[in-house]
Amino acid sequence: MAIISSGGTAAPGPAGPRRTASPRPGSVDPGGVCAGSLVNPVARPDEEPVHREDGLRPRRLADYIGQSELKQVLRIAVEATRSREEALDHVLLYGPPGLGKTTMALVLAEELGVRCRITSAPALERPRDIVGLLVNLQPREVLFIDEIHRLNRVAEEILYPAMEDFRLDLTVGKGTTARTRSLALAPFTLVGATTRAGSLSSPLRDRFGLIQRLEFYGQGDLEAIVQRAAGLLHLALQPCAAAEVARRCRGTPRIANRLLRRVRDVAAVGGHGRIDAALVDEALALHRVDGRGLDASDRRLLSLMVEAYGGGPVGLETLAAGLGEDPATLEAVVEPFLLQLGFLQRTPRGRIVTPAGRAHLDGPAAVAA
Ligand code: ADE
Repeated sequence: MAIISSGGTAAPGPAGPRRTASPRPGSVDPGGVCAGSLVNPVARPDEEPVHREDGLRPRRLADYIGQSELKQVLRIAVEATRSREEALDHVLLYGPPGLGKTTMALVLAEELGVRCRITSAPALERPRDIVGLLVNLQPREVLFIDEIHRLNRVAEEILYPAMEDFRLDLTVGKGTTARTRSLALAPFTLVGATTRAGSLSSPLRDRFGLIQRLEFYGQGDLEAIVQRAAGLLHLALQPCAAAEVARRCRGTPRIANRLLRRVRDVAAVGGHGRIDAALVDEALALHRVDGRGLDASDRRLLSLMVEAYGGGPVGLETLAAGLGEDPATLEAVVEPFLLQLGFLQRTPRGRIVTPAGRAHLDGPAAVAA
């Protein structure tokens, strides 16, 4: 039976679950105008490497700030699973990038006392990639597949019996000599993550016992996340400065931590021991992040809609062409936060800028543009 081992190697983490590192391309093509942006929630290749311990990630549910409903559901599921000594039911986490789906998978593994193998669907190109990962899983381990909506059909079909019956159905040989062999797998938990739950096939979606959405974070939770990160980075951050970072991070912890690092740079270069709101403002203005967390590409989108299309309605493809942007990036990366802010609406006839969006463009919070 030709089973070839998985693409990644699992190395023990310093004190936590072991992880399998794989390339983590952005969930959509992060190219285009927003690729280099400080407030693009898609992880940059140079940050948050999952194969290395990222000091800012919470490791336990108790340290994970926000997402209270999700935590409550998972806390109960983990506790019940542990008492039954079973593998946790498969979990699908969906929501915009940067909200902590990978972090939650690692937290789950930590809570279950098992290691977490991390990969992403684009890395599972050949059948042997997914087969290698599955056969190497130990009982109750967590397999995290990022961007699971991008899984190809063959990989998806290998997953069905694996998820349902912890069984691998393999075809051995070719043509008339081809036979199907089944191989028992260790009971495991698949944690799938996606920014596009609607793009998952229903047979795959139906095999997840827990399907949970991650929400944008509120101001209070973000302030707490920024304060926690500042503590870990040994920064003297005043509460008003934490509030300022929280206001500008688009409800997204990944962006909050990224902004905080840029503020730290400015503080270090300027020799500022204590960081106040004015310093945050100075640092983020440098990166053209405005008072509500919009960057130049957000403002370009809103301005294009107002100036060229009278505020809309206007189609996604038209806007993408006008901005020289990829429509998928526009839809998955730029739009969600503008929708969340109520600056943009999607209607059956196209996108429209709301009065709040227009007011922001004309107002003082947009001065960094
Ligand atoms: N860092 C990033 N996300 C976090 C969260 N949800 N809680 C605590 N720290 C975080």
